Amino acid sequence: MSMTTAKPSGRQIDGGGYGKPPGTFDESLTRVGPGTPGGEFLRRYWHPVGVSDTVTAVPQRVRVLGEDLILFRDGKGRAGLLHARCCHRGTTLYYGKVEESGIRCCYHGWLFDVEGHCLEQPCEPEGGLHRDKARQPWYPVEERYGLVFAYMGPLDRKPPLPRYDTLENLGDDEHLEQDRDSFYVGGGRNAANPNVPYNWLQNYENVMDPFHVVILHARFSGVQFREELGVLPKVDWDYLDHGVATNSIRDINGRTFRRITQVLLPNVRIVPSIEMTSGKGREVAWLVPADDTSHRSLGVARVPNGAEPLYTRRSRLVNHDGKLWTEMTDEEHRLFPDDFEAQFGQGPITFHSEERLGTTDKGIVMLRRLLSRQIKAVEEGKDPIGAGTNGAEMIEVKAGNFFLEETDAP
Ligand code: FES
Ligand SMILES: [Fe+2]
Repeated sequence: MSMTTAKPSGRQIDGGGYGKPPGTFDESLTRVGPGTPGGEFLRRYWHPVGVSDTVTAVPQRVRVLGEDLILFRDGKGRAGLLHARCCHRGTTLYYGKVEESGIRCCYHGWLFDVEGHCLEQPCEPEGGLHRDKARQPWYPVEERYGLVFAYMGPLDRKPPLPRYDTLENLGDDEHLEQDRDSFYVGGGRNAANPNVPYNWLQNYENVMDPFHVVILHARFSGVQFREELGVLPKVDWDYLDHGVATNSIRDINGRTFRRITQVLLPNVRIVPSIEMTSGKGREVAWLVPADDTSHRSLGVARVPNGAEPLYTRRSRLVNHDGKLWTEMTDEEHRLFPDDFEAQFGQGPITFHSEERLGTTDKGIVMLRRLLSRQIKAVEEGKDPIGAGTNGAEMIEVKAGNFFLEETDAP
């Protein structure tokens, strides 16, 4: 009988883990910092960076697209977003004091307005004869729907800040509610650090994945949304406007139910009511990368006056025993995982090289292709879709829950 000797190195052919090369990910899709292909693409669009009514004379630290920034509101009511690092000798403006016309650095008292102009240099002769040569890096901001939006790209490519039809023309009996704590993923996990600790694209791709609704949200963790959403849908995906839409069709009690979810580049997600309320989606949300391995979900929803706050309600609906995410024990999180657990479980940046995509992942493939094409367009000096000269002033939301005999189906 001959002895076989085990091969000391190299990949096993029987599927064992030994010798497996380390996983890799698509850097252009996942890196968000200045000068990276993905980061340059993301910088061509407006991103929400804060909730308007929390932006005050108290400086806030915000991390967006890999940059450390300070958000504040000056005495004239203007929101400002400046680089945190003072352009004099580099301390952070977080310790600055906000005044009528801007923010004053704690170290030597330079005063900057919301566009970074240096208004005073109190220790320099005559208040700074050359102060116009110093400019604190700044970004344009605009406020809408109770959110503060920033544009961090080249100023000559700035598109209009888009409006969404579903958030316009409110009746007296409704109002807009802002998601303050990334409730969608993790439900107010940590008010002091609102960042969700993994790459933004994992969360974004989830919107194009209607099949996880059937497993994760309707079986594995009990019925988190509605029992009917546990019916396996027939799905197709389409490129729609400057994004992708999923169209899930289910036969429910003899009626055809169509559920459309939508993403719009670069990071907008429109998911209709998880309670299957009929009609157009009433919430628009943005998955804003803080850096390569964390992001924030900021959103706004149109809700009836007097209702329980939508984001708290969603967290209680989805989570075990009506608890908020933060109220659950570790064991409950293990037994009843939600989007946060599934996406966090993919790692800080998921390894694309280790995926085995199937037919049900078509929407994710389409989204990645769309993103890659637009990232390339920016590298070639063009405007990506939905930005620059291609920017839309008004976006018609197509997402929604539709029973097909109803006239509101698109
Ligand atoms: S470091 Fe800011 S004023 Fe000197
Ligand atoms: Fe989900």
